[in-house]
Amino acid sequence: MRQTSTMTQPVLDVRDLTKRFGAFTAVNGISFTIKPGEILGVLGPNGAGKTTTIQMLLGLVTPTSGSIRMFGLDLETHREEILQQVNFSSTYISMPMSLTVEENLRVVARLYGVLGVERKIDEVVKKLEMEEFREKVTRKLSSGQMTRLTLAKALLTQPKILFLDEPTASLDPDIAHKIRALLKEARQASGLSILYTSHNMQEMEAMSDRIIFLQRGRIVAEGTAAEIVARFGQADLEEVFLKLARE
Ligand SMILES: Nc1ncnc2c1ncn2[C@@H]1O[C@H](COP(=O)(O)OP(=O)(O)OP(=O)(O)O)[C@@H](O)[C@H]1O
Ligand SMILES: [Mg+2]
Repeated sequence: MRQTSTMTQPVLDVRDLTKRFGAFTAVNGISFTIKPGEILGVLGPNGAGKTTTIQMLLGLVTPTSGSIRMFGLDLETHREEILQQVNFSSTYISMPMSLTVEENLRVVARLYGVLGVERKIDEVVKKLEMEEFREKVTRKLSSGQMTRLTLAKALLTQPKILFLDEPTASLDPDIAHKIRALLKEARQASGLSILYTSHNMQEMEAMSDRIIFLQRGRIVAEGTAAEIVARFGQADLEEVFLKLARE
C-alpha cells in the first residue's frame, strides 16, 4: 500500500497553547500531537486544564495564545471545515431536553448532513444499547443514559477525530467496558483518532496508546502508560498520579 504524507501527518497539532482567565492561567503553553488512529488519554487532577483544553480544540473557548491545527489546517482560519470532521461528548453538553433521544439524534444528524439518517440512528442506538430509552424524553434520562446519548451523538457523524471529556464517568462497569471496546473498534475500522479524559486509571492504561499528564495547566509527563510508570519508578499509573498530585 502506498504511504501518502497525509497518513503520517498528525491529525491534530497543538503548539504552545495557553489559556488565561484574567490573571489565572488554566492552560500553560502545552504542545502535543495526535496521529491518525491514535488514542490519546489526557490525565490530571481536578482543575488541571483538561476540559479547558478540549473546549479550545472545539473552538468553544478562544486561546490566549498558541496554535491548533487539525488535518493540516489552522482552527482559527478553517473553523467550519475542521469542525465538520470533528465530534465530541461531554457531560456539559446541552441538548433540547424536551426532545426524545431519537429526535435529538435526528437534529444532530441533520446539522452534520449525515446520509441515511434513520439507518445510522438505528445502528448507533443498537451499538450503545439504547433501545429501551430511545423514545424517552431527554430530560428523564438517568446520568448514564445521558452519557450514552452524548456518545451516540458523537459517533453518529463519522468524525475523523473525537474529543471525549470523561466519556465513561457515570456508566456502569458493564456498559463502560462495552464502550471502550466500541471506541477501539471504531478506531480500528475507520482510523478514527480519539482524545479523551478520564479519572479511571485502569481505563487510561487499557485504552490509551499515549498519555499526557496535565498539572496546573502544564504537561508534566508524557508517553505510554508503561513508559510513564517506569520513568516515575512506581507500581502503576495510579501510584504515579498520587505521587504527582501530592507534590
Ligand atoms: N470560564 C472560566 N473562568 C475562570 N476560570 C475558569 C473558567 N473555566 C475554567 N476555569 C478554571 O480553569 C482551571 C481548569 O479547569 P478545567 O475545567 O479545565 O479542569 P479539568 O482538568 O477539566 O478538571 P476536572 O478533572 O475537575 O474536570 C480551573 O481552576 C477552573 O476553575
Ligand atoms: Mg474537566
